[in-house]
Amino acid sequence: MSTLTIFSSVPARAAEAVAATTSRPIPAVLGADLEVPVKGGRLVGYANLDYAASAPCLEPVSAAVTAALPAYSSVHRGAGYASQLTTARYEQARHTVRAFVGARPDDAVIFTRNTTDATNLLARCLPSDTTTVVFDTEHHASLLPWQKSVRLAPPAFPGEAVRAADEALAGIDGPKLLVVTAASNVTGELWPIAALAHVAHRHGARILVDAAQLVPHRRLNLTALDLDYVAFSGHKLYAPFGAGVLVGRRDWLAEGEPYLKGGGAVRSVGDDTEWHDDPEPRHEAGTPNVLGAIALAAACDALTATGWTALVREEERLIARLRSGLASIEGVRELSLWGDDHPRVGIVSFTVDGYSAREVAEVLSGEYGIGVRDGKFCAHPFVRHLLGEADGGCEDGTASAVRASIGIGTTQEHVDRLVEALRELVGR
Ligand SMILES: Cc1ncc(COP(=O)(O)O)c(C=O)c1O
Repeated sequence: MSTLTIFSSVPARAAEAVAATTSRPIPAVLGADLEVPVKGGRLVGYANLDYAASAPCLEPVSAAVTAALPAYSSVHRGAGYASQLTTARYEQARHTVRAFVGARPDDAVIFTRNTTDATNLLARCLPSDTTTVVFDTEHHASLLPWQKSVRLAPPAFPGEAVRAADEALAGIDGPKLLVVTAASNVTGELWPIAALAHVAHRHGARILVDAAQLVPHRRLNLTALDLDYVAFSGHKLYAPFGAGVLVGRRDWLAEGEPYLKGGGAVRSVGDDTEWHDDPEPRHEAGTPNVLGAIALAAACDALTATGWTALVREEERLIARLRSGLASIEGVRELSLWGDDHPRVGIVSFTVDGYSAREVAEVLSGEYGIGVRDGKFCAHPFVRHLLGEADGGCEDGTASAVRASIGIGTTQEHVDRLVEALRELVGR
């Protein structure tokens, strides 16, 4: 299959997915007026360019949590009114998340702590002897949880990703799972997940999509893309209250060992223990993170109400401005797997000649009030590959990069401040 064929099906679906109408203005984030100290003791407005690590809280998310607190009570247990109300809010959050990702009516929606928790949960539920196929470009959350895996080298172009997955899956007997990220947390580049799902299914495999960096930036439709599982985190989706989610097919989850063993996961306990068959109670033992789930759902609602067209348009304007600014500075090099023109979300990683990533990040923070991330972004094999290192040490300052990432609340002034700060730095 050529690169062209792979991508011709993706934009058609993406266009359909982005066709939501804009009905509300883009919501504000908390902390938009945060001031931070810089060298000399001055206070400046904080330029938060570290959304890919954790995004700030949306105002409607904070409002939803505040509104739920007065009636906060136990879920799934109490007959009291507050318990019933809180249970209803928690279960409504599940429906909201289901709709947000376009899940099938019978898909399980399991609240977890974050994406890492969600991938580990699925890893524990895989049928015995499942082989996982995973690219070296993955975040550690999607690279490491698997008992038996085949690791694929970073593909030189998107069609190569599909070809490599095809070949690897063809050579595996027994249950198989392809794991792939939808949008890279290092380069922001979008992966051909529709084509990869197609290939996986052709070989009788399932696909898990790590959508941690996609869902804050683009609409995802699990049914339209024919994905089996998706995982993502609330704290990257403007809902920093400690919840994440795993959504997908029920059967493996219904049969897998309960993720946590305790109250709520069992139907009855006597000499034998009878576990719930339904994946949600089976894997959500103990008191769940109700406020986290409510926050996550409020973020889904807020993004949907705003409409993806407006969100994507503003993000693309700012990321294009940032990338062209970076490209105009000699000595600043953007990291990219598939080239300048490949579609991406609002994430850019780069190096600066003559400076370690840590030095750059410290200067940006200490002198300009800009927050970025530096390091290998929990994607060590991928960052090493992009930096052209065979096998360097970790977080050692030489083999790492700086990452700027944007989202709701990012302004043009933030972007311009970063570009000018880097220009000044390389000119010293
Ligand atoms: C692509 C991707 N997957 C998974 C994760 C892990 O997310 P969490 O730390 O919320 O578990 C991250 C976090 O940076 C990520 O960027």
